[in-house]
Amino acid sequence: MNILLIGSGGRENALAWKMAQSPKCTKLFIAPGNAGTKDYGTNVALNPNDHAAVKQFLLNEKIDLVVVGPEEPLVKGLHDAILADEKTKNIPVIGPQQHGAQLEGSKEFAKAFMMRHNIPTAQYKAFTKETVADGEKFLETLKAPYVLKADGLAAGKGVLILENLEEAKAELREMLSGKFGAASTTVVIEEYLSGIELSVFVLTDGKSYVILPEAKDYKRVGEGDTGLNTGGMGAVSPVPFAGKEFMQKVEERIVKPTVAGLQKDNIPYKGFIFIGLMNSDGDPMVIEYNVRMGDPETEVVIPRIESDLVDLFEAVAENRLGEKSIKVSDKTCTTVMMVAGGYPGDYKKGDVMTGFEKVDGSILFHAGTKVNEAGQVVTNGGRVIAVSSLGTSKDEAIAMSYKNVEKIAFEGRYFRRDISKDLDKYYK
Ligand code: AMP
Ligand code: GLY
Repeated sequence: MNILLIGSGGRENALAWKMAQSPKCTKLFIAPGNAGTKDYGTNVALNPNDHAAVKQFLLNEKIDLVVVGPEEPLVKGLHDAILADEKTKNIPVIGPQQHGAQLEGSKEFAKAFMMRHNIPTAQYKAFTKETVADGEKFLETLKAPYVLKADGLAAGKGVLILENLEEAKAELREMLSGKFGAASTTVVIEEYLSGIELSVFVLTDGKSYVILPEAKDYKRVGEGDTGLNTGGMGAVSPVPFAGKEFMQKVEERIVKPTVAGLQKDNIPYKGFIFIGLMNSDGDPMVIEYNVRMGDPETEVVIPRIESDLVDLFEAVAENRLGEKSIKVSDKTCTTVMMVAGGYPGDYKKGDVMTGFEKVDGSILFHAGTKVNEAGQVVTNGGRVIAVSSLGTSKDEAIAMSYKNVEKIAFEGRYFRRDISKDLDKYYK
């Protein structure tokens, strides 16, 4: 099979690494890819939102499968465009059409979906500029902290959690006046959930599903979960507080009704569903859906998957996922994300990276990297490279990740030194 993978992050490097190992993968193209993905296929300069160019590429290169890493091309209708064209409509795409992508593209759509299908989630109401007064009244009925969410995609910045009622009202007004542009034309206000977070990943053909390994990520930039939110500074899989009983509840109360709900609502869906969950005293509650894999969660989920991922994708494409099961390693995988100094604020690009050849015992998944004109690997984003390691214990895995992190050098590099430390109390 010839495969086109869309995206350029650590997630895509992990997917490329895995797909390239499949005997079913003939040629792999990554658009646009990074300095890591080029080791597993051919990077191509394609803009995923230029649908005509993507379709032409599919025909020119005789592509048999498209795998979409990030949400944006899905929300913008890449899958729909491929389906709408006689010449490309039979090329399967992993990643939902626009309708299904609304599970991530609109918080209000996602909340209404969960309510309609009795999927446990925080109580909520949605407001617009016209109903801002009702929104303020609704806030008065809630207890602190207050959770405000921009309805649309806001690059991970659209959720505000506020301790103070007056501040929450002021933020509500600001959001509805365009703080996040069109993304906050509608604002969802919801009940605060307490507990500990984790992410569960599902691959579905719209009817059947397989549950992939779960993961916990570390969103804040600072040690001890302090400082600004980032895309993710590290991750661990499996999650020790998500035991068999908890995962069974996740499957019965959330995964099954989600997939059944898609069918009932006539929403075609082939691809990943990322379920952001709160473990509230042993009961799972959905915080959000994403229509893609997580990043850096993919960098710990994929190394634990022993099954052939391309074979699973093929089954999704042919509506035969029900025949498949997934084999998962019982090892622990950890990843530590190395970032550019200043991230998630302003940071530099173009710094030369060294030390790759010294890395031993970990897998490097490049995120924001590229090869410069002189042929050197340089930084090209805030999150630069993920150092993933498998171990027979969590301690073994994380020690290996940190040992190899020390070998990768670039100016201003930063990483959290406490990834997975908070979990120590769960291991006996
Ligand atoms: P989201 O963009 O929906 O993932 O939200 C970002 C983060 O805000 C989540 O990862 C949670 O840490 C937090 N969050 C979102 N909704 C809630 C909620 N209802 N209660 C508590 N925390 C929340
Ligand atoms: N790591 C969180 C995300 O991918 O959204």
